[in-house]
Amino acid sequence: MKKYLICGALTLLAAFQPLRADEGMWLPMLISQRIEDMQAHGFRLTAEDVYSVNQASLKDAVVLFGSGCTGEVVSREGLLFTNHHCGYGQIQQHSSVEHDYLKDGFWAMNRSEELPNPGLTVSFLERMDEVTDAVLKGYVPTMSEAQRDSVVKANSDVIVRQLTDPDKGVRASVEALYYANQYFLFVYKVYRDVRLVGAPPSSIGKFGGDTDNWMWPRHTGDFSIFRIYADKNNEPSDYSEDNIPYTPKRFFTVSRAGVKEGDFTFVYGCPGSTKEYVISDEVRYVGEISDPQKIALRTQRLDIQKKYMSQDQAVRIQYSSKNAGVSNAWKKWQGEEKGIARLKTVAAKQDFERRFSVWAAGTRYEGLVERLHELYAQREPVYRAYEYYTETVRTVELLQFASNVASALQGGRPVDALAEIFYKDYFQPIDEEIFVAMLEAYDRQMNPGYKPAFFREKLASYGSVEAWRDDLFSKSLFTDRARVLALKEADLEAVKADPAYALYDAFYQWYREDIQPVITRLDRDIRLAYRDYMRAQMEFEPDKDFYPDANLTLRVAYGHVAGYSPSDAIYYAPVSTLMGIMEKDNPDIFDYDIPQALRDIYAEGGHDGQPVCFLATNHTSGGNSGSPVINADGNLIGINFDRVWEGTMSDLVFDPDYCRNISLDIRYLLFVTKEIGHADWLFDEMVFAD
Ligand code: ARG
Ligand code: GLU
Repeated sequence: MKKYLICGALTLLAAFQPLRADEGMWLPMLISQRIEDMQAHGFRLTAEDVYSVNQASLKDAVVLFGSGCTGEVVSREGLLFTNHHCGYGQIQQHSSVEHDYLKDGFWAMNRSEELPNPGLTVSFLERMDEVTDAVLKGYVPTMSEAQRDSVVKANSDVIVRQLTDPDKGVRASVEALYYANQYFLFVYKVYRDVRLVGAPPSSIGKFGGDTDNWMWPRHTGDFSIFRIYADKNNEPSDYSEDNIPYTPKRFFTVSRAGVKEGDFTFVYGCPGSTKEYVISDEVRYVGEISDPQKIALRTQRLDIQKKYMSQDQAVRIQYSSKNAGVSNAWKKWQGEEKGIARLKTVAAKQDFERRFSVWAAGTRYEGLVERLHELYAQREPVYRAYEYYTETVRTVELLQFASNVASALQGGRPVDALAEIFYKDYFQPIDEEIFVAMLEAYDRQMNPGYKPAFFREKLASYGSVEAWRDDLFSKSLFTDRARVLALKEADLEAVKADPAYALYDAFYQWYREDIQPVITRLDRDIRLAYRDYMRAQMEFEPDKDFYPDANLTLRVAYGHVAGYSPSDAIYYAPVSTLMGIMEKDNPDIFDYDIPQALRDIYAEGGHDGQPVCFLATNHTSGGNSGSPVINADGNLIGINFDRVWEGTMSDLVFDPDYCRNISLDIRYLLFVTKEIGHADWLFDEMVFAD
């Protein structure tokens, strides 16, 4: 009787529970295990529609764009959408003072105007397979880890070699998932003639800039449009005038019906890296040591850059991209640090580890957590020094440049191209100030044991970092463009005697000899322990569904459109509109200065409700940029481009209340393409569901 009551109460609870956010990045090949849950959330397609090797499925319309973003095919003629920030490099390469496509946007008005991008590829996943047995063939448990590694490598090489076919653009790779408890084969078809078709002006595609990055409310038109070309047989080919638009097996139909809170959403893309199954020590290191120390160092660098950028328009342009790069992770880490603290993830994991250890007593997993604790204790000081080094000494531009020039000379490569790129965007006062701030921080924060002898001795002889700076920047040949341009291979010795090179090299040698080998050994031991710990967690919690950590392979994340409450008494609605752009519009603030054309269109009236971006609960990560966001019927409703910063700890721990991905509403892409780009000729080849 009592039991029935409880069941009844649970059913009632379930019925009234609002839909919660949805942790998980699932393997498409195994989606049949999730499809019932997806359907319960509103999805109306089948597992075969999502992933199939027998027929065209949605996966055939998704690509890995370049080597770190996702894209989606949207027409029978190879038209492709991704983010503006994913196509940024290509748009920039085609830009010049006469044609500033970054600033003004670019729109091909017919196929012949589409611009080739040497080096850019898109990779279609042909199929994936579990190959654990084949990869471990010949392995016996009595073997050492080194022997296991060689078995794995030899078997994987055979599999990859058999399938790879450069002539047909076929690339294969064997990936270890679940910390090498399972191995999966991924076979890709790589197309390498991918042309730029359209991009909005940055004042739309990057609207809000770093001010709004990782934040809601968001109004960024973060899209760019490309087209895949193939040879006459629809096969991958280098760029050629004879190539023709690629005919996909499948492309996305576009929905203009719009989204509202609660709607089912499905993000199909390539998240780069997560670590959901690590022990408390790793989370503590990230949240309490690594993030705070890196944030503090980057705050100093960003402040120095901003000070000079606000004084001089030319410097602002020189440093805008560098500044954005520094700021992107800086902001993400702040959310990660806060999220880990808010969720008390360290304590929760410690509690889990206690229960786990009780269960593990007497099994082969006994002592495993303790072993991991021990390895982390050894790794922490070295890893901290390594991260400090990369965030300080390695960020001084002159030192890095000195090293690049030396390797060019050593390799017999010309230095002029290198030098042009460097000096175009170099402002010495910023670098000098960063030199002082970073070296002083290093001196203050590192134990003497982690200070290279060269560093200690030089600093002692100069008496201060400032005196060191004065001497280095006045004597280094690298501050003098003409001297660098005149360098010949024979000058290598002089280059190596330069104070900038000497400092760079002393730290680098110290890193190579004292730091890197220790980290490599400990990381290897930690990885091995995680192989057991991963398997053990699965045995400990047999009813839990474990998705593999992200590794840039194709994943399915599903959820629903949802707002959130970032803090007390605030609720963020999930859809932003053009009205919000107008509210932010300000010609005096670079990040919020929209094109006049957009102001004019708005002034005509009737566009207040034009949707721009929306929030949803999909579990995404870096690499999911450009991913198609699709509705319950599999139609394209948006393009993923960001997460909210309060939820960025989802790379380690997912919080249904705070984790939200940010997508461009596909209707804003259509609006901008037509009204700003006048490129609605592209709509003729697209198929609209409604
Ligand atoms: N935060 C997004 C990502 O991690 C967008 C970055 C590009 N935008 C920018 N304002 N920096 O890639
Ligand atoms: N903007 C990120 C990217 O380029 C996606 C944001 C995230 O980390 O979720 O992949």
